[in-house]
Amino acid sequence: MSKKYDAGVKEYRDTYWTPDYVPLDTDLLACFKVTGQEGVPKEEVAAAVAAESSTGTWSTVWSELLTDLDFYKGRCYRIEDVPGDKESFYAFIAYPLDLFEEGSITNVLTSLVGNVFGFKALRHLRLEDIRFPMAFIKTCPGPPNGICVERDRMNKYGRPLLGCTIKPKLGLSGKNYGRVVYECLRGGLDFTKDDENINSQPFQRWQNRFEFVAEAVQLAQEETGEKKGHYLNCTAATPEEMYERAEFAKELGQPIIMHDYITGGFTANTGLSKWCRKNGMLLHIHRAMHAVIDRHPKHGIHFRVLAKCLRLSGGDQLHTGTVVGKLEGDRQTTLGFIDQLRESFVPEDRSRGNFFDQDWGSMPGVFAVASGGIHVWHMPALVAIFGDDSVLQFGGGTHGHPWGSAAGAAANRVALEACVKARNAGREIEKESRDILMEAAKHSPELAIALETWKEIKFEFDTVDKLDVN
Ligand code: 3PG
Ligand code: 3PG
Ligand code: MG
Repeated sequence: MSKKYDAGVKEYRDTYWTPDYVPLDTDLLACFKVTGQEGVPKEEVAAAVAAESSTGTWSTVWSELLTDLDFYKGRCYRIEDVPGDKESFYAFIAYPLDLFEEGSITNVLTSLVGNVFGFKALRHLRLEDIRFPMAFIKTCPGPPNGICVERDRMNKYGRPLLGCTIKPKLGLSGKNYGRVVYECLRGGLDFTKDDENINSQPFQRWQNRFEFVAEAVQLAQEETGEKKGHYLNCTAATPEEMYERAEFAKELGQPIIMHDYITGGFTANTGLSKWCRKNGMLLHIHRAMHAVIDRHPKHGIHFRVLAKCLRLSGGDQLHTGTVVGKLEGDRQTTLGFIDQLRESFVPEDRSRGNFFDQDWGSMPGVFAVASGGIHVWHMPALVAIFGDDSVLQFGGGTHGHPWGSAAGAAANRVALEACVKARNAGREIEKESRDILMEAAKHSPELAIALETWKEIKFEFDTVDKLDVN
């Protein structure tokens, strides 16, 4: 790498490229996909990534001698080809645990993806995966409740939960908003949801929404005899306002609140999640803005990293895409990161995009939320892909029903229960999807109309971010 400085200064690789290093169990490991500028040796650019994301800078500095750099530095210990891609390579870097503040995802990200992504010697850089050591995991708060506690709170077992985003996203008054919530919940849904961008706009201030929603939830519970909830979005411009909203939701006796963790930020998210644990509140997490960061195959942060970070920062439910709906996400990759949300151990498996063994120990799991452009025809595939520990959410696929939101909700509930029953009876629900839905529709006019309404709607586009394979 041509460094424009005095002769005699070491290259990055002299210090930070250590192919003989065997990572420790306590090291935090990262895999970056690196695309260097032409002519820059791989080892040098990989070492530069290790240096700039840990202890190093572009020059040798005398003050290094005041510490034990060998103890603190990040090390690039392996370089690998990227299958099917001649210009990029994977760099595996080990960071000593003491580089990071305990329990701070904010600090981990500031280190690993801080300055280095703008480095001139790189064309692109993507953080593909992080192996968090158990010693770090044990310092993180994690989900405020987790899957088991959430099921107990909601008294719902043995099937995916069913939800729905209220539409139109913006513009309804508090009272009308509450009416739509009520329609969906009485129709058969477990949850309704604020959309990611509804906070406290002039047409509907947050107190107003919270009060009408609480009334709707109460009414629907009385009418159906089932526990219901609505994710009240507490995302706000300041942490003080965020907590004020959360406190009010609790005062109203609501079971669940919501946060946009990427636009809101990890510090806000970790704080809110701790508040939820303390106050017995469930926390739903939306990932608005993620695709800006995670969709480009060569630059940014893969969503599996953002998902792992959320589990550590805290949340009981996280949006993961749907595979079959309107938002990008191929099946194998999605299965790979939903494992990271829910399992206690996830083995390295490149066919699912997981670069490391990841042990989660006793950390509770997060429900995977499938949401975005799904409707009843997708139900068998959704149940097969996401399994029981998921929330399936139909926005347009509920309110778009010609008979209204309650009928849309009823159609989805009947379809869900038919798929679960068929699966439990050993049927291959994806292969037999048509038969299963048509049989169920014989006893549900709402489902019959829903099937007719959305029979032509498919989202089949080429995937932009594919798994790296030959
Ligand atoms: C920064 O935060 O701006 C960098 O750490 C600058 O470091 P450098 O001057 O050593 O490149
Ligand atoms: C979401 O926030 O997940 C979306 O708003 C879902 O909306 P849709 O189901 O109408 O696509
Ligand atoms: Mg939305």
